[in-house]
Amino acid sequence: MPESEVPASPAPVVIVGAGLAGLTVALHLAQRHPVVVLAKRNIDEGATAWAQGGIVGVLGDDDSIESHVRDTQDAGAGLVDEQTARFIAEHSAEAVAWLVESGVPFSPDPQGPLGLHLTREGGHAVRRIAHAADATGKAIHDALLERVRQHPNITLRERWMALDVITSRHLRREEQPQCYGIYALDIDHQRVETLPATAVVLATGGAGKVYRYTTNPDTATGDGIAMAWRAGCRIGNMEFIQFHPTCLYHPQERSFLITEAMRGEGAHLKLPDGTRFMAAHDERLELAPRDIVARAIDFEMKRHGIDYVLLDATHLGESFLREHFPTIYARCLHLGIDIARQPIPVVPAAHYTCGGVVTDLQGRTDLPGLYAVGETTYTGLHGANRLASNSLLECVVLGRTCARDILDRGAKHPPLPPAWDESQVENADEQVVIAHNWDELRLLMWNYVGIVRTTKRLERALHRIKLLRTEIDDYYANFRVNRDLLELRNLVDCAELIVRSALMRHESRGLHYSRDFPHTLPVSFPTVLLRAHRDGKKPKAYGLSG
Ligand code: FAD
Ligand code: SIN
Repeated sequence: MPESEVPASPAPVVIVGAGLAGLTVALHLAQRHPVVVLAKRNIDEGATAWAQGGIVGVLGDDDSIESHVRDTQDAGAGLVDEQTARFIAEHSAEAVAWLVESGVPFSPDPQGPLGLHLTREGGHAVRRIAHAADATGKAIHDALLERVRQHPNITLRERWMALDVITSRHLRREEQPQCYGIYALDIDHQRVETLPATAVVLATGGAGKVYRYTTNPDTATGDGIAMAWRAGCRIGNMEFIQFHPTCLYHPQERSFLITEAMRGEGAHLKLPDGTRFMAAHDERLELAPRDIVARAIDFEMKRHGIDYVLLDATHLGESFLREHFPTIYARCLHLGIDIARQPIPVVPAAHYTCGGVVTDLQGRTDLPGLYAVGETTYTGLHGANRLASNSLLECVVLGRTCARDILDRGAKHPPLPPAWDESQVENADEQVVIAHNWDELRLLMWNYVGIVRTTKRLERALHRIKLLRTEIDDYYANFRVNRDLLELRNLVDCAELIVRSALMRHESRGLHYSRDFPHTLPVSFPTVLLRAHRDGKKPKAYGLSG
């Protein structure tokens, strides 16, 4: 490269995503390195700010690292990586303490460890969840955002959407593949910018929007997973999509979660005639792990031909409900449901992407210089089913180790990548194609790739996804990009990864239940996909340990 093309000062670290994962990495890096954080919508949009129940901390006298690791493994149905689970459990107390120091107003209990009230959720042997009433995520996000906004070394770019990782291929370099930066759409100015970077961190959250019914916000379109996949990274365990058992069933409110902590505090699941049904499914009743509770609800809804079941918290009393669940209390009341007097209609909905970009405990992906943290990753923590409240914890613990690794790698002066080329494209004439394909994809994933699967339905889904891909690729090649098109392109990649992974698992385990393979194999491995060929050929697959 000519001398004149080498930038004088080191490039910033570009963090794609301003949820808990992205903000944690940013705050740990910024003392020593300039950081740019991108958020594709408004900065407060993302799963983090919607989190309700809380964050795990192994803090109580009745708790231990062993106990948390065991609960994580039990929920994860034999596919949890023990080393990852142990590492994260060991750093949980420190993670909660860091959030407290950062100003997060957790619900207090003068007698509790660190002065915190701990609640309980499904699959946990003891109370170990620190929370801020039922709006933990907002409390965490607001506190960290305030610190980020005040930091002179952090630049926030709102409504900037990363669209692809810049690799050696873009620079037409033959050397060992690596990441040099990111292309990002500045949405307000409709311009694609080139951002060279010392390192890029994908912290884009999950892919819940690939399903018609989801608890997830609009940001959850699997962008980081799709970008890493296109850049040649391995993607793991995508068949394990977690359906949360209790999403509010209401025509005006499709994505509102009723926290599991409500069952943790004693609420009951019932049929519309008032009969409790969980005893027929698991001896832990309402506090069985989520995969079991969601499948039980799905079974009862199909058996009785009903659209929802009921979550009854009336016996907990109005003052308890107002104090512990003020957000849910107010939102339901606004919708005409007084939860102190009436049971809440609920249904399962897609909630969490247990798989994602394969990383190590420092967030390193397969591409040097490209990192990933948070829900966008597969680290081995969640196995075949995530234990409640382990996600926020993973963001904080691995956000910190990721920042350390980037600092240890040192600042880089990447070559200037080529600018985005729009000379061959024109403005899109028909947005209806995109809107139609969005709806079709999400509906087919809901109907064919939901809680209970069959090989035939998965094959049908794959066939439809391939047709959609052809249309979208054609659109992408010919028209100027916009957010809807880019998100749809990413959703189709994620849908294909989910379906291909599901087709490869010839057993039922955790969140993946197949009528054609109802048994659990004695030995099983994570499903890992590698994009062997760039041009539409079948991805290569193998077990992570195999
Ligand atoms: P997010 O918080 O989703 O942030 C993603 C960020 O990436 C956003 O800023 C978004 O704008 C940005 N982004 C995405 N794509 C792009 C792109 N292409 N370019 C630029 N920016 C992009 N977990 C728990 O542990 N405890 C809980 O109590 C809990 N409750 C939950 C309740 C709900 C309703 C939901 C939906 C999830 C809950 N979870 C909970 C899960 C948890 O909230 C998430 O897994 C976690 O917050 C993910 O954090 P993240 O930083 O990885 O992603
Ligand atoms: C909830 O509050 O039920 C969600 C907790 C989680 O997803 O971990």
